[in-house]
Amino acid sequence: MVIPAHMINNIADTYFAVIDKNNNRIQCDISYNLPLVECDKERMEMVLINLMQNACRHTKNGIVTITADFVDQYIQVKVSDTGEGISPEILPHLFEQYLKSQSGKSMAKGTGLGLFLCRKTVEAHGGKMWIESRLGKGTNVYIMLPVSSGLSVE
Ligand SMILES: Nc1ncnc2c1ncn2[C@@H]1O[C@H](COP(=O)(O)OP(=O)(O)OP(=O)(O)O)[C@@H](O)[C@H]1O
Ligand SMILES: [Mg+2]
Repeated sequence: MVIPAHMINNIADTYFAVIDKNNNRIQCDISYNLPLVECDKERMEMVLINLMQNACRHTKNGIVTITADFVDQYIQVKVSDTGEGISPEILPHLFEQYLKSQSGKSMAKGTGLGLFLCRKTVEAHGGKMWIESRLGKGTNVYIMLPVSSGLSVE
């Protein structure tokens, strides 16, 4: 059982300074009194770290924002950045196992497995994940995790 506000604040406090090489600022805006979620803490932390790493890599002198809210029986976590954004050509392919361009050349700089595994992990928890992005403006990554009834801490 995980308290979302604690988990997110801990991850940001522990990893942001290590991950960010681009002079970005982190902002956490998390509602307290969020219900508990039943999840594999280590795997969910890896998801957050991955998303924070993506945001930091593709943003310079900007802001990485993590928010968490309670929406329709789900915890909605959003990792946003004010960075370079993602081209409409790549956007529909982000969650493919090995992200490749049409020429067959890999478009991802790392293993390209990051988002694929993040989505698999979220789905394994009964949740969903999607991305909105505008080139030159920034990216929003959304995660929805279901809350089991009767677990509210309010
Ligand atoms: N926040 C973001 N801003 C801009 N582009 C992004 C962002 N997040 C992901 N991308 C794009 O999506 C691609 C795939 O991301 P993904 O996390 O799956 O792989 P990766 O970061 O390249 O590799 P890995 O996470 O395995 O090290 C990235 O290479 C990048 O082009
Ligand atoms: Mg990545």
